[in-house]
Amino acid sequence: MSLVILTGAGVSAESGLGTFRDQDGLWTQYDLGEVATPQGYARNPALVHEFYNARRANLLTSVPNAAHEALVKLNGRATLITQNVDDLHERAGSTNVIHMHGELMQALCANCGHRWTAPPAMTTATPCPACGQHTARPDVVWFGEMPYHMDRIENLLDQCETFVAIGTSGNVYPAAGFVEWARAAGARAVEINLEPSDVARSFDEVILGPATETVPAWVDAILSA
Ligand code: APR
Repeated sequence: MSLVILTGAGVSAESGLGTFRDQDGLWTQYDLGEVATPQGYARNPALVHEFYNARRANLLTSVPNAAHEALVKLNGRATLITQNVDDLHERAGSTNVIHMHGELMQALCANCGHRWTAPPAMTTATPCPACGQHTARPDVVWFGEMPYHMDRIENLLDQCETFVAIGTSGNVYPAAGFVEWARAAGARAVEINLEPSDVARSFDEVILGPATETVPAWVDAILSA
């Protein structure tokens, strides 16, 4: 069974990382236009670094939860596409993880495109190791930018038999449209979330509850089928 799993912020919520659109989500605390767009970075790069430095510091003190750990049991059976920029799937032991929105622990040079492992905190004085310019940014896909690995993702959706979305509100495209793409290719679609997402009606099955409870149970059911 070719299994494609899409995860969102809800899978990391119980590890203490904020989601975006829940009651106390990140977009209720920050103006995403200021910290998650190329225009915001051009206007005030110091504020952007401050925002991502705080998220990176929070990530460095967080650990994978039971949902991340359960998904590791599907290594070799499932491809994991994540909207999340945290590295908790990898730290739990998942392989074959596609970060379509980039990675918080990676840095990108806005001048020459060089990528390197981000230092714990970046500032407007952080030099690019390749070109030396002070144009370091988080290697995170911002609103208005093209998500990474879309060709590979589209091939996976065209061939998958089961598509599962975990911990995502279905607010942001193209990820929110993956379920329709997979269903058009004949896949069965399952949503695992704390509450029905904005695209819940596109799924054949919706499993509600906290990911640390629902995901281990679902993985065990898959493995015993
Ligand atoms: N268990 C399962 N689901 C949860 C939990 C939990 N413990 N806590 C929250 N959720 C669900 C919420 O019900 C919500 O549907 O996770 C979802 C989180 O939604 P968002 O905050 O919108 O996060 P996400 O869907 O990942 O956002 C997508 O938007 O801002 C951009 O680039 C950012 O990757 C992000 C994208």
